[in-house]
Parts: sequence; C-alpha cells; structure tokens
Amino acid sequence: MADSLGIAVIGAGMAGRAHAAAYRTASTVYESVLPPIRLVSIGDVNADFGRAAADRFGYARTDSSWQAIAEADDIDVVSVVIANSLHRDVVTGLLEAGKHVLCEKPLSDSLANARAMADAARTAPGAARVGFTFRRTPGIAFIRDLIRDGTLGSVRHFSGRYWTDYATSSRAPMSWRYQGGPGTGALGDVGSHLTYIAEFLCGEMKSVSGGQFSTVITERPEPLGAVTGHDHVAVSDSYVSVENDDVASYAAEFATGIGTLEVSRVAPGHPNGLMFEVFCENGSAVFDQRRPGEIQLFIDDDRPGTNGFRQVILGPEHPYLGGGLAMDAPGTGFGQNEAFVYQARSFLEEVAGIDEADSLPRCASFDEGVHNMEILAAVADSAQANGKKVQL
Ligand SMILES: NC(=O)c1ccc[n+]([C@@H]2O[C@H](COP(=O)([O-])OP(=O)(O)OC[C@H]3O[C@@H](n4cnc5c(N)ncnc54)[C@H](O)[C@@H]3O)[C@@H](O)[C@H]2O)c1
Repeated sequence: MADSLGIAVIGAGMAGRAHAAAYRTASTVYESVLPPIRLVSIGDVNADFGRAAADRFGYARTDSSWQAIAEADDIDVVSVVIANSLHRDVVTGLLEAGKHVLCEKPLSDSLANARAMADAARTAPGAARVGFTFRRTPGIAFIRDLIRDGTLGSVRHFSGRYWTDYATSSRAPMSWRYQGGPGTGALGDVGSHLTYIAEFLCGEMKSVSGGQFSTVITERPEPLGAVTGHDHVAVSDSYVSVENDDVASYAAEFATGIGTLEVSRVAPGHPNGLMFEVFCENGSAVFDQRRPGEIQLFIDDDRPGTNGFRQVILGPEHPYLGGGLAMDAPGTGFGQNEAFVYQARSFLEEVAGIDEADSLPRCASFDEGVHNMEILAAVADSAQANGKKVQL
C-alpha cells in the first residue's frame, strides 16, 4: 500500500467542492484503513474560487493551471471537475504525467474526445475512472441488488426522469452548460446520470428510439462576473445563442424489457428531480432523490387485499450505509454529498492498492464512460432522424 496519497481537485465549482469535501471525509468512513491522505491543492483558473475552496476544505495550496498539478511530485490523485469540453486535454495531460485521475461525467463533450481519453487510459500507468456518482446512492444500489438476487427479478419496464429547474429563468446566465453539439445540454448534463442508472439496473441498452430535443430558451444573457454551477449572477444586455437541449427524452430497449427516459433543466419546482420506477417479474421499486433515505417496494407475494407498496427506510443493512456514516445508526439521514464520499473512498482504495474484494465497488472505467456517451450520441442521431430506432 502507498505510504500516503496527495490529492488535488481541478475545478472549484459546484461539483469540485463536493469532490474536495469528499476526499476530506473518505478516510473517516468504514473500519478498514486508508494510507494518510494529504489534501494538497485546489486547481482553478479563477484564483479567488481556488483559494476559497482550499481554505474551506483544508487544502494546502491552490494552483491556477492544471500543468502545475501534473508536474507536482507531491500529488498522486486528481479529480477533474471542470467543463466537459476541457476534460480531454486536462485528463490526458494528467495521465501522461502518471497521475491517477477521477474525471467527472459525462466523460467528455464529444464521442471522439471521449474515445481519445479511453485510449490514453489504456496505456497510462495510473488509474482512470469516471464519476457516475449515483451508483453510490444506497437506495439505487439496493434496488439493483434486489433485481440481481431475484427478489425483484428481471426488469420488464424502466420509467425514469431527471428533471431540474436550473435553466428555467430566461435570466439565468450563459455558461458552458448551454454550449456544445446536439445532446450536450440536459441530456449530457443529467441525462448521462439517468442513462447510467438505467443500465446499472436493467443491463445494457440494445437500441434507442424516439429521441426528442427541445430548446425552450434560445438565447441567454452574458454574465457580468464569473459564474459556477447553476448560480444566477448579474447579467449584461448582451445575449448569446443557446446551442443545446433544455429538454430531452428517448425510449430504450434492454435485453429483458423497455424503458423511457426524460430529462429537463427547465422543470419548475424540481431542483434535483431524479426519480424512477422499475417494474420487474416479481414486483416493483420506486426511487426518488427528494427522499433518498427510503425506497418504495412492492413484492408480489403479499396477501391479496392488503398488498401494496411499502416504505423501506434505509439503514446500516443497506449498501454503503453500514459503517459508512460517522453516526452509524438507522434513520440518521444522508444525501447526495455522501455519494461523493463513497465515490472518493472507492477511488482511493483502488489507488492505494487495496484488493477489489475488500473494497467498495470500483468506479466506472473510461470505457464505460465512452459507452455512456455512445448512447447519448445515438439519442442525438435518433432525434435528428425524427425519432428513428438506432441500434447500439
Ligand atoms: N456528479 C455530479 O453529481 C455532478 C454535479 C454537477 C456537475 N458535475 C460535472 O462536474 C463538472 C464540472 O461541473 P460544475 O457544475 O462543477 O462546473 P462549474 O462551472 O460550477 O465549475 C467549473 C470550475 O472550473 C473552473 N475552470 C474553468 N476552466 C478551468 C481550467 N482550464 N482549469 C481549472 N479550472 C477551470 C471555473 O473557474 C469553475 O470554478 C462537469 O463535468 C459536470 O458535468 C457532476
């Protein structure tokens, strides 16, 4: 096992801060011991953002270029948490420098760039993983277990949505999220998560069809200052065209069933509305990110007349939660930030050389990141051809 691991996070925005906090907490969950974790640097081109995050989360320094992090001898592990169009250059540069890289989803802004990253990962000395954070969500992982162990049995129908409202206002400022080719909007942003979850539960998609995109707000004002995440800042009178989708939907075919997936960034009242129902041979399950501490479960062996969905409160006997909270007791509550902790923990366990059998499930590979983007590209092809079926 490594003597210690030096950490850097590139990008001090919305998700970068979640990564920075997660590395800080990762060694405080579970009994098994990680090597000492050194919180070395937050990298951000905006020095103020970098300094604020470093101070807040206890990182020793900031760097304003990824190259400085690539060259630093005291850094082993780097999370790349910046705009998707920047992933390829930064990630391949870090891999060439021998760093272990955890890249945010989607793997990149285009399939060509994602494939180049996966090629680089194959020959790189370090680990290369992509952060599909929702595989760490206890309720989602538990439903997967119930499908796989036969309690729910094989999937017949998946109905999923990821509705968000961050772009609802026409005064929401232009940012990298609104720029890119077909399918890089809501589909790439939250649809990459929903697509990953659908396959995590139902197995690989065989085809997609019925692709639809809608851009509701076609131009957005330029911000007057720096903007991160979904923040609203003061804006100018100058407007720039939105290039990608506000709403997207498609249908999918799995080996044993079908699915429908809908995503939006203009759904008022849904700040983070990830929700799905999965209908299987022996019952059904419902997950709703607004209530992450529970799932709804229907098992078709209850007595007629009294059967129905029941609320299953998640606790230490469910995935990730046993030993995975500081106060390791049922009903204490958890949310999306814990998923980042379990993701960071998994990556550190891999990098530290802890055997896979003694670790949390590994993070997704870059090849899986490419596969996810192939589906998004197929949805874009379907949308451009009036919804035609595209084989995967
Ligand atoms: N897993 C999740 O739940 C989740 C949630 C949100 C975002 N994301 C992903 O995380 C990534 C970043 O999204 P975000 O919302 O945090 O972005 P953001 O816009 O909030 O932050 C990006 C940060 O990168 C900085 N930056 C820009 N260019 C840079 C460069 N060349 N080098 C270093 N820093 C640079 C910016 O100053 C900013 O602070 C995206 O890939 C996004 O899809 C994942």
